[in-house]
Amino acid sequence: MSTAETDAQIINPEMPDVPPHAPSKINLKDYQKPSFDVETVHLDIKLFEDYAQVNSTLKMVRQTTGDIVLFGESLELLSIIMNDKALTSEHYQQEDGKLTIYEAPDEVILDIQVRISPQTNTALEGLYMAGSGDDTMFVTQCEPEGFRKITFYPDRPDVLAIFTTRLEADKRYPTLLANGNLVEAGEVADAPERHYAIWQDPTNKPSYLFACVIADLDVLTDSYTTSEGRDVLLEVYAKSADIDKCDVGMQALKDAMRWDEVNYGRAYDLDRYMIVAVSQFNMGAMENKGLNIFNTACVLSSPETTTDARSFSVKAIIAHEYFHNWTGNRITCRDWFQLCLKEGFTVYRDQSFSADQQSSAVQRIDDVATLRAHQFAEDAGPLAHPVRPESFVEINNFYTTTVYEKGAEIVRMIANTLGPDDFRKGTDEYFRRYDGQAVTVEDFLSALSITDDKIEDFIDWYRQPGTPVVSGSQTYDSAAQTLTITLNQQTRHVKGFDAPKPLPIPVATALFDKDSGAIVAERMLLLDEATQTFVFENVASEPVVSLLRDFSAPVQLNYDYQDADLAFLLKHETNGFNRWQVTQMLVNRILLQSQGAKSSPEVYLEALAQTLPVLAADDAMLAARLLDIPSAQELASAIPQDYDPVLVKEQRDGLYQQVADKLKDQWATLYNDLPMQSYEDSAQARGIRALRNVVLDMALTANVEGAADWAQQQYDHASCMTERFGALKAMVNHQLPKANDYLTDFYKRFQANDLVIDLWFSVQAAADDVTPVVIKSLIAHTDFDWNTPNRVRSVIGAFSSQPTVLWTAEGLKMYTDVIKKLDDANPVLASRLLQVLARWNTLAEPRRQMAHEQLTDLRKNVASKHVLESLESV
Ligand code: ARG
Ligand code: ZN
Repeated sequence: MSTAETDAQIINPEMPDVPPHAPSKINLKDYQKPSFDVETVHLDIKLFEDYAQVNSTLKMVRQTTGDIVLFGESLELLSIIMNDKALTSEHYQQEDGKLTIYEAPDEVILDIQVRISPQTNTALEGLYMAGSGDDTMFVTQCEPEGFRKITFYPDRPDVLAIFTTRLEADKRYPTLLANGNLVEAGEVADAPERHYAIWQDPTNKPSYLFACVIADLDVLTDSYTTSEGRDVLLEVYAKSADIDKCDVGMQALKDAMRWDEVNYGRAYDLDRYMIVAVSQFNMGAMENKGLNIFNTACVLSSPETTTDARSFSVKAIIAHEYFHNWTGNRITCRDWFQLCLKEGFTVYRDQSFSADQQSSAVQRIDDVATLRAHQFAEDAGPLAHPVRPESFVEINNFYTTTVYEKGAEIVRMIANTLGPDDFRKGTDEYFRRYDGQAVTVEDFLSALSITDDKIEDFIDWYRQPGTPVVSGSQTYDSAAQTLTITLNQQTRHVKGFDAPKPLPIPVATALFDKDSGAIVAERMLLLDEATQTFVFENVASEPVVSLLRDFSAPVQLNYDYQDADLAFLLKHETNGFNRWQVTQMLVNRILLQSQGAKSSPEVYLEALAQTLPVLAADDAMLAARLLDIPSAQELASAIPQDYDPVLVKEQRDGLYQQVADKLKDQWATLYNDLPMQSYEDSAQARGIRALRNVVLDMALTANVEGAADWAQQQYDHASCMTERFGALKAMVNHQLPKANDYLTDFYKRFQANDLVIDLWFSVQAAADDVTPVVIKSLIAHTDFDWNTPNRVRSVIGAFSSQPTVLWTAEGLKMYTDVIKKLDDANPVLASRLLQVLARWNTLAEPRRQMAHEQLTDLRKNVASKHVLESLESV
């Protein structure tokens, strides 16, 4: 016993040796099966003016020894009855959000009555009120642990039950929805102003998939017949003013339903599929069984109000939530450590779906760009964690790009290693074996390995944090006509984890003949040791090697290229993704010279000048992407210490300027060759609009004569939001004299549409020349609203993308003040915003010290375990 022990501990040896309110850690290795299963749940939710009464009846059956453990938070317990006997405090203990019932018999009927306050629930978890004034609605968000804010329940994903839900409310909320099928609805006896509805969900499900909605909504209706012959009623619910923006989502739903039948043999399993749009939501959307709830930003779409990029992501998110019906709902997670089991696989599935809706090269570019900008940064910083974490304080903090996007990359590597036929055999086996169960990543790998047991080796990808760095070189032996490629892998040792070991890394490789530009050999190299050599025979002359084609693994690649090799590859690589990847490599080698890379801009600029005009006519979307320069955040993630945000921005802007100047004479032709046409939602039309916006910005950067007029013309004659917003953004970022007039016009035109006003806020908050004063005035604007996460993100999230403002004493103070303010009201949102500051530790002084001061101050002023856990790590 150490001398530092407190009196309390000496008196009571049971006292934990942690401070009384330090949030406790949950560990994967401590997993235990629940003592009781729930067979059926009857929920009765009565909504009143300023509270809701929730009565539940649980039929529970013992599985193993132990007490009944229910979770509950922010609940007022009115009564609890077990097998018709009212329980008093001697039968149970209530502590730290847990209600433990002692000495329960093997079969139990529990009747629990609680009162909750959805009207004051600002955390947006559990049952909460959205909207304000006359325009309110009530919705739920239960993943991951929101159900315990509705009633006491074994709220964990491995407890599956059949739910029946009765909803009762005032008739001014005509829309009463819950999971499954509507079995009854009617008036409430003795209360003519009230009505009710009873819903029954025939599928066994965990509580995190429960949902209900009490609202006044319009509905768009359609139908779909599954490959199994089931007629499904499809409904998208939204406020009446938004119902005209639901067709895109409805079509995407039908496309996704068909796609899952064709590609995975999975058909929908209920008679009804509902989607509800809500304007206050912490995340994008939620896959509740048969009743998805969506952030309005992720479901509403119309040409006049929604950019192409947004509209495309609406379709992807609709598909994502639909695909969860099999990967997540029918087969769910044993515990929250397995979150990637459903998210990684489902993201892989939605990425594959999206790749079928546009050019697959552009889809891969966008997915890899996101991964590199956000996931690589996370993996390089203090918040690095394995795709399957081993411990957490607050699971909400682990809905990360590592779990989602790196999780998807692992499934992609497995799919590519197996090839389409064996991957399909593996997924069929997964659905056959585990349907209706709550399982683990190991179960997933075991099903996928039925044709190849090496697949089980991928488990280390789930366990080990950090982005592997693959370095390589080649030697050519002209006498033997062999090319030898040597590759090695290295992963940084992340604090708190075992020393890294080599992972199985598939490296898609092609050899290009220098004279003809043709591919002479193509192979998937599997690098699964620290260092390995791979020999190619019969290679007639020294080729140029293209590695990691299609980004075959989520790694950082360093290969001893000459600039000329890269210029060669940019010309000869056979697909758009690989060409883009070459430009990114060149840009990184130009901009990160201080990091030991070595490229002059000339090769890059020359290659762009040659490629762009041809490509613009051919594949406009790809041409637009080829002009991508990685964001400051992505560049920063490659700088291990002494990161100077001002310098990085200057260098990045400098290169952008050089590109603009290099092609100065061509912008006018390019712009005019992309005339505005009436709106069409095709890949080609979207490509033209994307490229036109990029060209407009380049032309303004190069000071091309007349470009300011193009911007105004484009705004004035816009056929859709992509054109109008592209023009507005260019005017704002280039500080054109008319920019303010156009901002005013934009505001007036779209005042009634929250999602467009979000754009109006974000274009100003993310402007190139934004200052703390501007941010403050946006926060003070009458339309700013702390209770609407979309609005908060449109200002605070947008501003954090400007590192030169964020990483100043004033910027940091403003940013941490926001977190303080949200800590109590909406800790999920507060903690997510805080994660942006994760890389403060690598800043050059004096900024590092400034950040340290603000974070120290923040620590004294927050209380949520969400924010505290994030602070602990950053
Ligand atoms: N399962 C949802 C999705 O990815 C995300 C819900 C997360 N919600 C939360 N509060 N963390 O589709
Ligand atoms: Zn998901």
